[in-house]
Amino acid sequence: MTENIIIKNQPFTKSEAKIVQAEIRKSPDITGYSLRELLWQKNVFKTYKDKEFAGACNNFDFPPWLPSGLCPAETDGETGSGFWTELSGFLVLPKFRGQGIGKLLYKSAFQDAEDRKRNIYVVSCNPAMQKIMRGSNLTIITKFRQLPRVIRLHSLSFIISWYRLFETIRKALFMKKSGKFIFGYKIF
Ligand SMILES: CC(C)(COP(=O)(O)OP(=O)(O)OC[C@H]1O[C@@H](n2cnc3c(N)ncnc32)[C@H](O)[C@@H]1OP(=O)(O)O)[C@@H](O)C(=O)NCCC(=O)NCCS
Repeated sequence: MTENIIIKNQPFTKSEAKIVQAEIRKSPDITGYSLRELLWQKNVFKTYKDKEFAGACNNFDFPPWLPSGLCPAETDGETGSGFWTELSGFLVLPKFRGQGIGKLLYKSAFQDAEDRKRNIYVVSCNPAMQKIMRGSNLTIITKFRQLPRVIRLHSLSFIISWYRLFETIRKALFMKKSGKFIFGYKIF
């Protein structure tokens, strides 16, 4: 019998981080993180199928301040003073896709954010991921400008990285995204 195991809040090993990064580089639907960022991540959810590394995601807590000096919670008139977590970096290795592992990772990540009383944010243009998002308790919108301000500020600061700028341009030139973005959020 096959068995899926989820391990929570255990950082990537170097070899796992390399696998995740290499796989994300092949996907048009996700920008990803530098190897150093992957190795720094603490809220990582890893999954193993029959003891083989099968995929991962990361709960990314918005930093308490942005490079501009603005504090996301304080600048956000629309959603009170709650703190936010982005469920991000969903990656299931190709041979394990379509077996419910993405959904399992999402469930664990979502539960973790809820347990920590965080507001939740997810964005994706990947059809499988969008199906997962629509099946969970999120407000779904299709326009970036309709998002709460705190999320728009976070998204802009997230893209300011040489790694992501390079990846965004490379993927825009040589790859085609699967679809349009949808955005989901839930206020605790
Ligand atoms: C997105 C991803 C993590 C999904 O993982 P997965 O393990 O294949 O997903 P699941 O098997 O749990 O499937 C989730 C749902 O999507 C559906 N689905 C799977 N592949 C699909 C596809 N290509 N198109 C539409 N729906 C799809 C499944 O049927 C399932 O729905 P159901 O519960 O109603 O049956 C995986 O495809 C992946 O790693 N993609 C590359 C990286 C990426 O783009 N990540 C998203 C970043 S936000």
